[in-house]
Amino acid sequence: AANTRLAGRRVVITAGPTREPIDPVRYITNHSSGKMGYALAEAARAAGATVTLVSGPVNLAAPVGVDVVPVETAEDMLQAASAEVDRGADLFIATAAVADYRPASRADQKMKKSRESLSLDLVRNPDTLAAIAAREDAPFTVGFAAETTDVEHYATDKMKRKKLGMIVANDVSAPGIGFNSDDNAVTVFWPGGQQAIGPAAKREIAASLIGLIADRMA
Ligand code: PMT
Repeated sequence: AANTRLAGRRVVITAGPTREPIDPVRYITNHSSGKMGYALAEAARAAGATVTLVSGPVNLAAPVGVDVVPVETAEDMLQAASAEVDRGADLFIATAAVADYRPASRADQKMKKSRESLSLDLVRNPDTLAAIAAREDAPFTVGFAAETTDVEHYATDKMKRKKLGMIVANDVSAPGIGFNSDDNAVTVFWPGGQQAIGPAAKREIAASLIGLIADRMA
């Protein structure tokens, strides 16, 4: 039988890294490939949802039947995700690895090398997940947590602080999982429960996650 667990639901997912410009040719970013977020978009679509992916710069094809809104910076991501949720959303999943800081200013011209050392002034970026979760009309909101130590402690703390329906923790210090790999291993926490999934392919993890999310939304 067809999987219709999210039929009629509108889902917004962030994926990939953000790119924070230093000057016209340089930027700050991270190792996110977008694979986890794109796999979730495919799994949500396969469950019958209408899916929009707000995606940082990645080398992945748009999943069939999924709308992709491309963004570059954390500020773009906040704007685009908020605009999508303004249109009405039942579920928001923040898979993106957003740069926490951006250069305080962007040089108009390529910076020249002359000095022996150089400091960059960085300022905090807005938090898309926190902003969506804090809305009066907040959809069911799922966060990810990329931690390297005390995974459970930091993840459950993040869930409570940001008022999330669920948080998916991955230990990004373990080899072969997390950033950029095809596989992942996660522990999912929700108020009153938890479940470990994997190690497995990100596609399989995504299908299990969509099942757990549908259970919690029902
Ligand atoms: O893209 P892949 O290569 O497949 O790798 C997947 C992944 C490791 C990037 C993914 O599984 C993951 O863990 N994503 C979250 C990475 C992260 O930056 O976590 P965080 O602990 O810094 O952020 C916590 C949550 O807040 C995340 O849901 C994040 O999307 C969100 N956030 C954070 C900062 C910010 N400014 N805006 C946000 O929305």
